[in-house]
Amino acid sequence: MKRIAVLTSGGDAPGMNAAIRAVVRTGVSRGWEVFGIYQGYEGLISGRFMPLGPRDVGGIIQKGGTILGSARCLEFTTEDGQIKAIRRLNEFGIDGLVIIGGNGSQTGANALSLHDFPVVGVASTIDNDLYGSEMTIGVDTALNIALEAIDRLKTTASSHQRAFLLEVMGRGCGYLALMSAIAGGAEAVVIPEIETDPEQIAQKLQDAYRRGKAHAIIVVAEGATYNAAKLDAYFTEHRERLGFDLRVAILGHIQRGGAPGAFDRILASRLGAAATQFMANGQYGVLAGLIKSEIKATPLAEVAANKKTIDLNLFELARVLD
Ligand code: F6P
Repeated sequence: MKRIAVLTSGGDAPGMNAAIRAVVRTGVSRGWEVFGIYQGYEGLISGRFMPLGPRDVGGIIQKGGTILGSARCLEFTTEDGQIKAIRRLNEFGIDGLVIIGGNGSQTGANALSLHDFPVVGVASTIDNDLYGSEMTIGVDTALNIALEAIDRLKTTASSHQRAFLLEVMGRGCGYLALMSAIAGGAEAVVIPEIETDPEQIAQKLQDAYRRGKAHAIIVVAEGATYNAAKLDAYFTEHRERLGFDLRVAILGHIQRGGAPGAFDRILASRLGAAATQFMANGQYGVLAGLIKSEIKATPLAEVAANKKTIDLNLFELARVLD
């Protein structure tokens, strides 16, 4: 009999619950005991462990957020915190730990693995910036939320012949901004990966109005050098010369909430099930991720050492299609 535990860590993402459900149900079906750890690495250090059975994860697949709660835990980034965490895992007799989360969480998973604790990561973050998975849990749902915001802004923007800046999440990665700009037909997109001159954006907007457009939407990633606040300040300063009215909308955490869509529920179910499969195979220290439509294991050391890059051809596509 094996005893495993599962936790969610970092920013929550729609679909995390489907992943927890899959870990619990596939773990139990293998004859294992499964524990949930509450509040991520914080709960791991403080010992917030609770047994989870198949019925405890009933009715959660359609819910956003995470029933286990999540946290960003500074203490766990230290050697001392990691040793405390391993002591807790041993205290509860845990043979293997599934860690559902993004970059920071999987770096933590790698640290546990380097201490020889058996872990498997599950790729989950709305940012889609995690090496080892082409899509991560929550991205598709967050993208659709951004898209709905663009569609809504377009109607009011057209009524008033205004430009709108929409800031979407993405600390160091422009994936959500770029993809929502393409899917939403935005006039311009500003991402951290590409230096953008605000004057270029202003010219684009002026061109759009000259070409007879009734609206102009600029999607900005929160991590871009010129984020929404800076672009707004620039456009306000040059308002007379530029000749258009601008409003700003910041999507923020609205983008992380809400029910997961079909893609995220299915991806999360597959990744959660793969995590217990890897454990059953004795395959530890890996991340379960989606690569070329298949679920694959990537060593956590590789995940922690590499940065996922964005396909810059897509930036060109957004430019051509504006
Ligand atoms: O990493 C996911 C994410 O939503 C980022 O896009 C964003 O910058 C960050 O988390 C926000 O973090 P918090 O919820 O801690 O404010």
